[in-house]
Order: sequence, then C-alpha cells, then structure tokens
Amino acid sequence: MIKRCLFPVAGYGTRFLPATKAVAKEMLPILTKPLIQYGVEEAIEAGCKTMAMVTSKHKKAIEDHFDTHSDIENSIKGTSKEELVKDLNRIIDNIDFTFIRQKSMRGLGDAILTGKPLIGDEPFAVILPDDLCFNDGDGVLKQMVELYNRYRCSIVAIMEVPKEMTNRYGIIDGKYLDNRDDLIKVTNMVEKPDPQDAPSNLSIIGRYILTPDIFDIISDIKPGIGGEIQITDALMQQAKEGKVLAYKFKGKRFDCGQVDGFVEATNFFYEKIRRD
Ligand code: G1P
Repeated sequence: MIKRCLFPVAGYGTRFLPATKAVAKEMLPILTKPLIQYGVEEAIEAGCKTMAMVTSKHKKAIEDHFDTHSDIENSIKGTSKEELVKDLNRIIDNIDFTFIRQKSMRGLGDAILTGKPLIGDEPFAVILPDDLCFNDGDGVLKQMVELYNRYRCSIVAIMEVPKEMTNRYGIIDGKYLDNRDDLIKVTNMVEKPDPQDAPSNLSIIGRYILTPDIFDIISDIKPGIGGEIQITDALMQQAKEGKVLAYKFKGKRFDCGQVDGFVEATNFFYEKIRRD
C-alpha cells in the first residue's frame, strides 16, 4: 500500500510573477480550485491518506487551505454556497496533512530528502502539482499504485515530448517489459539533456512512486545539472539495479508551470464543466 504522498511545493513560481509574489503558485486556481487541490484529490483517489508537504517561507496559504475556516463556514451556512466547499471539507475531515520546510532551494532531490521525516521507511508517492493530470478513468497516480502493487519498485510516469524539448525534463531509456507497450524497465536516465544528447524523447512528468532506499541514495549523490540535487540522478542508481520502471500513463497532462499549459488546462476544465 502507498499511504503517503509527498508534495514538493517550496519553489517560488517566478514564471508567474507578479501573481506569485504574495500567493503560493500552487494556490493559483484552475477555475475555482487551486492547483494543489487537484493533486491532493488525485493522491486520495490512489489510496493515500497522508499528504506530506515540503514547503518554504510564504507558503502558509497551502496550510490554511486544508484547514477549517469558521468565519467562512458560518457566513455560508444554510446557503447554496456550502456546496462549493463540500469536497474540500470532506478532504479536511478525512486526510492528514503534514508539513516541513525546505530551508534552501537545492533541487527536487533535496526537496524529496527534506520530506523524509514525514514519510519514514515505506514506499511513497510524489506529485508535482504543476503537472496537472486528468483521465476519464483511473487517475494517473492510481494507475501507478496498481503497477507498484505488482512490481514493487520505483516507478516514474512518462510521456513523449518533441525532441527539441528534452532539455526541460528528465529523459529515460530502457526496454519494454512483459509484452506491454506502456511499461519500460529503465536502463538510462538523464536530467534535462540537450536534444543531441538525449537517449530518447520519453520525458518524466511529475508523478513518481519511490521506494524508501531513495533517501540514502539522495544523501550520497553529488549536485548534478544546474548545481542541484536531482531526483533523476538518484533514480539512475536504482535503475542500474533494474529497480525503476517508466510508465506511459493513460490521460492528459497539462504543464501548469508555464503560462501556456495553465491556460490550456483552464480551457479544458471550463469546457468540461460546460459539458457535464
Ligand atoms: C522536475 C524533474 C524532471 C521532470 C520534471 C517534470 O524538473 O527534475 O526530471 O521531468 O520535474 O515536471 P523541474 O520541472 O522541477 O525543473
């Protein structure tokens, strides 16, 4: 069972300035729901009961979002607006939220290592809420948890990207497994390679399942590209032992860390509510 999901949400979201000057980027809404809540709902659907958030200064709004607010509750009591917070209140009632601060931004690997006290010695999920995923059937993390229950190793979600965009992502290579066309045993992974050096065009997106030995591996690795501690480099150590799978997920992914992807997601969800 994967019980905990880690959310590395310490970053400043400078691409969205000035909107992100006083507001955490994860609190920017797609329609009326902040990005972080989409990620939390995906983790709950996958069976996670604890949301472990690695935050930083100026991220208090995330903590407040997942807490009760008696002034608002009293003012909308008995009105149709109660419906608007029904899903959120159900989350608050049933899910534990834990928080720890990352003291300096030293990369995704370092952010994940910072979350170790919130996770302990068990396999866990990671969601990067900037990557907003949607599927008509099971969500992406639920698809991955099912694979974890069968293969019991680290898993990354992947998708094909245009070759000229490999320098934005972790890129993997490997061999297709068990006669499937959506599951790869990873043999190589490189963080943000230039197109001419990329081993493929299969990019990692912000969904991971990690086995807890990853923490010791991260502690030992040296800073990689950009001088940051990269989760991709740590996963490569597991991949050398045949312990990383890459999964071509079913569904859509919007890169809400970029204005274009954010607008695309907004339009998609707006069309969806008009249809439903
Ligand atoms: C991180 C990872 C990268 C991955 C990406 C997915 O990069 O380091 O391997 O492809 O998330 O969104 P970042 O976007 O934090 O630079």
